[in-house]
Amino acid sequence: MNTQPTKRILTYGTFDVLHFGHMRLLTRARKLGDKLLVGLSSDSFNAMKGKQADWSYERRREALLATRLVDFVFPETHWEQKPGDIARLNIDTFVMGDDWQGKFDDLSAHCDVVYLSRTPGISSTLLRNAMRAAVV
Ligand code: CTP
Repeated sequence: MNTQPTKRILTYGTFDVLHFGHMRLLTRARKLGDKLLVGLSSDSFNAMKGKQADWSYERRREALLATRLVDFVFPETHWEQKPGDIARLNIDTFVMGDDWQGKFDDLSAHCDVVYLSRTPGISSTLLRNAMRAAVV
């Protein structure tokens, strides 16, 4: 019988027009533990950040779950919710891409903090712009 406790990993993001960079981030994050949870930027949080996603929250959530890398998705609605989420969801490790390097070091008071290298050459912004240019 496996008596090892389940290791729970948490990451956050918008994950618009889910792409290879996201998949690589999620694959590596998942390998750090047993369960991967995603705090997914709500549409209103994106509006607050000045980010216009092409896909709605529901579509972005559906795409994340379809990867089968992600076990649970919940809305991120404001910047300050992370410490509360980490406690409530029993998180062991918080993961972000290294475009956020150092920005979340304060969370190490609550759990491990890991930054993973960002995949070069691809982003949601790049894809949104390419799709908009293609339909004009
Ligand atoms: N990410 C990554 N490699 C990429 C793009 C994103 O590892 N090429 C990671 C980010 O570092 C973050 C997560 O994926 O941890 C979600 O990033 P998100 O901001 O939703 O994706 P971007 O493609 O960066 O979106 P945008 O262009 O709108 O900023």
